[in-house]
Amino acid sequence: MKNLVIKTLTLKPDEIGQAIELLRQGEIVAIPTETVYGLAADATNESAVMKIFIAKERPSDHPLIVHIDSLERVNDWAQEIPGNAIKLAKHFWPGPLTMILKKKKSVSKVVTGGLETVALRVPNHKLTLEIIRTLGKGLAAPSANSHKRTSPTKPEHVLKTLYGKISAVLDGGPCEVGVESTIIDLTLQEPRIIRPGAITGHMIEAVLGIKISKKEDPFQRAPGNMAIHYQPEKPLFIMSFEEILEKTKAEPNAAVMHYDKIGNLSDALSFKMPKDKAGYSKTLYETLYKIDQSNANKILVQAPPRSEEWNDVNDRLEKARFK
Ligand code: TXA
Ligand code: MG
Repeated sequence: MKNLVIKTLTLKPDEIGQAIELLRQGEIVAIPTETVYGLAADATNESAVMKIFIAKERPSDHPLIVHIDSLERVNDWAQEIPGNAIKLAKHFWPGPLTMILKKKKSVSKVVTGGLETVALRVPNHKLTLEIIRTLGKGLAAPSANSHKRTSPTKPEHVLKTLYGKISAVLDGGPCEVGVESTIIDLTLQEPRIIRPGAITGHMIEAVLGIKISKKEDPFQRAPGNMAIHYQPEKPLFIMSFEEILEKTKAEPNAAVMHYDKIGNLSDALSFKMPKDKAGYSKTLYETLYKIDQSNANKILVQAPPRSEEWNDVNDRLEKARFK
């Protein structure tokens, strides 16, 4: 396929019709969700889905999430719907939970990266739900960033790595959650969380009434499970508050992402994060984008708390860390 440079439109919410038309024609469009912006294609159109892999430079064996508008549509994609999937969908959809189920024969392996399973999610964003309903199709959509780069939570983040490679970005405002969805695999003997997100293991256990495995399977073929992912351009280091205080004396050009107060730090280098988990997640990627655009030469991150609630933030920072 030719690697053409295309003009990327930024569409306002009332121009949603154009986004729908482009998707109908087999083009790729970045769309807002409550977690991060996704790069969408009609999931039933293989050549449209292939454009996603080209634009992102994503390896073709990395599966995509199919976004649908309701639990009723799971039947179109999955061979069977286990009881646990119904319970979770009723409780958490629309919302930041992706479920891995056995795929129907009709689901293209271009979407599933060659796997016999399919990832499904109902996103909680008015505009994107309207697109899915109007098209009457599922939308295959990974995060709308170049492969291995930080996920976008605003249209301008999308344009930073994908301008000229996608047809449009639909502006749905900043993402509310800010970190990618929790992924749970329901095709195994026991449910297993393969990517932490805003919906925690405890929340899922409370709904299912069983203990679930949160251990990552190192053999699971999911790019989110690779050691390197979600990388900002500048090297990122995670350290204790005390280490940061020490380091900043020797590193006059390092940006500092901290939630405790630090004296003697210039405004240009101080990136103060909210102390509450929801606030921190919401601004995490935005802050990394801001630091990438600043004159700082590296990023020093004050290690967040280690409780389960913070698993998703710790997971993304660990993958963003300089290695
Ligand atoms: O919040 C989100 O999940 C965002 C928004 C746009 O919905 N999407 C997102 O997509 O983060 P992406 O492609 O960046 O990450 C999806 C993850 C990947 O790690 C992929 O390997 C995994 O989901 N995945 C997709 N299908 C899978 C499958 N059948 N089995 C195992 N993992 C799968
Ligand atoms: Mg991604």
